[in-house]
Amino acid sequence: MRYVLVEILVLTSLVILELSNAFAPIVSYQWLVSYSQRSILGGNKQIIVINDMFPGPILNATSGDIIVVNIFNNLNEPFLMTWNGLQLRRNSWQDGVLGTNCPILPGRNWTYRFQVKDQIGSYFYFPSLQLQKAAGGYGAIRVFSPELVPIPFPQPDDEFDILIGDWFYADHNDMRASLDTGLSLPTPDGILFNGLGPEEAFFAFEPGKTYRLRISNVGLKTCLNFRIQDHDMLLVETEGSYVQQHIYSSLDIHVGQSYSVLVTAKTDPIGSYRSYYIFASARFTNFYLSGIALIRYPNSPLDPVGPVPLAPGPWDYTSSVQQAQSIRRDLEVGTARTNPQGSYHYGTINISRTLVLQNDVMLSSNKLRYTVNGVSFVNPTTPLKLIDHFQLKDAIIPDMFPIYPSNKTQRFGTSVVDIHYKDFVHIVFENPLDELQSWHIDGYNFFFVGMGFGAWSESKRAGYNLLDAVSRSTVQVYPYSWAAILLAMDNQGMWNVRSQKAENWYLGQELYLRVKGVGQEDPSHISIRDEFPIPENFIHCGQIL
Ligand SMILES: *[C@@H]1O[C@H](CO)[C@@H](O)[C@H](O)[C@H]1NC(C)=O
Ligand SMILES: *[C@@H]1O[C@H](CO)[C@@H](O)[C@H](O)[C@H]1NC(C)=O
Ligand SMILES: *[C@@H]1O[C@H](CO)[C@@H](O)[C@H](O)[C@H]1NC(C)=O
Ligand SMILES: *[C@@H]1O[C@H](CO)[C@@H](O)[C@H](O)[C@H]1NC(C)=O
Repeated sequence: MRYVLVEILVLTSLVILELSNAFAPIVSYQWLVSYSQRSILGGNKQIIVINDMFPGPILNATSGDIIVVNIFNNLNEPFLMTWNGLQLRRNSWQDGVLGTNCPILPGRNWTYRFQVKDQIGSYFYFPSLQLQKAAGGYGAIRVFSPELVPIPFPQPDDEFDILIGDWFYADHNDMRASLDTGLSLPTPDGILFNGLGPEEAFFAFEPGKTYRLRISNVGLKTCLNFRIQDHDMLLVETEGSYVQQHIYSSLDIHVGQSYSVLVTAKTDPIGSYRSYYIFASARFTNFYLSGIALIRYPNSPLDPVGPVPLAPGPWDYTSSVQQAQSIRRDLEVGTARTNPQGSYHYGTINISRTLVLQNDVMLSSNKLRYTVNGVSFVNPTTPLKLIDHFQLKDAIIPDMFPIYPSNKTQRFGTSVVDIHYKDFVHIVFENPLDELQSWHIDGYNFFFVGMGFGAWSESKRAGYNLLDAVSRSTVQVYPYSWAAILLAMDNQGMWNVRSQKAENWYLGQELYLRVKGVGQEDPSHISIRDEFPIPENFIHCGQIL
């Protein structure tokens, strides 16, 4: 009898879900992923293109849309695409990382299908395997507000997607081989703007118009300072949350972060008969590199004139920290729904659990590896999500991973932290090294409530911003410093927590959060209300024949 009732409930929720999705528009893409030989920064390199484009096509959606992307892997290596910042609600099956999906083999195709729900903003996608990001394969994602939800600024006249990142002449296979032998990545050879070298990318402005620039740092390791000659930037969005609008003359964009700024074009005849520089320069590095793009006005001469926009001092952490602290959430506005961001009082919710995650390095047979709390991650041959679903013998033993930094011997491991669905979790990223870090969590946005110099301790909580902290999915951690975040674990699934720095990630700096409801150990007890079932087209690998 109880069974029948459960069945009916499940069916009813299925029907409701299907109904609510029945009218959701479907946005479909067919993407052919292949190699192409291109001259970039004067060096000839085999890069990864999508439909022959680098960067790849814009993934353009409105909140609520169902996205269908059929990816054909024409490379001679396995491939997965991940959607940096998209929450893929209840659907980590679509995340495109090795913990959730088997790779798409060469010559095969696989169709991603997910809904962009309760989310708006600027993001990007990139290949998650084998350091392929070093060969490109990335592109911009825009998620527009539903028609009835007003945006907190006048509709811009146009939008530009700007993907900036460091670039290496070396082939990504050689770079990977070098990491495999225990060497670190070299100094980048340049900074690209939308795949282009110095003064090759330009954005056409018309006098008096206002443009939204959606900027993401898609590089492997370099924090970039972004600035425009003689034009101010009004910051309006960070990875899907609207911020209190302030003007910045330059912005630090860490690896994996995305921002939207509004820029108003010149109106005076002299000002608008010129071209202007846009700079993205390496920050906190012992090398000096800049990417340069141009703003062009109608008939403006190609070469900009006047002084280039000044960068903050390359090691000026103080200004960077101050800037990070000045970025606050706008509590008065809504994003994907009309209720204001401030109606969710994250500061009053009791914290269920604290994890302190410390990044470090280790040497294994004299080879460099990266760790979190002493563990350097190794992927099992079968994705964690499939091990779980099929309840395979080598099922993950929960909490083998230390949730506080420990002084135990460093080791290899497959780190999974079990988190109860609906818990409210506090995570502290501790960085004991002399190197900037960038951390990301898939499936979530979190409140970036505090940061500081030195080691974290309980007493630091007193200084947290419990009112208007920015909500985002990638956070920087300064050298010898910590950063604290709060997150509501409202998205079931297996979610990747990773260093956004490609080298650190490739060499083991990641873990997974397994977010599950009580009584859902058996996958057949998971209701579709809580999590999507395994996709029919899931790819087999490892122990799943
Ligand atoms: C993206 O979608 C918006 C809103 O639906 C539309 O106005 C715009 O033209 C689209 N842009 C591209 C590049 O497809
Ligand atoms: C591969 O592409 C074909 C043709 O578009 C499609 O019918 C099929 O469903 C795709 N396969 C997968 C596993 O998504
Ligand atoms: C938070 O915890 C306190 C102390 O344990 C308790 O009194 C309070 O009711 C809790 N608040 C919520 C919203 O659960
Ligand atoms: C690890 O060792 C250091 C130095 O001996 C000590 O200060 C620290 O408290 C230890 N940490 C833990 C978590 O045991």
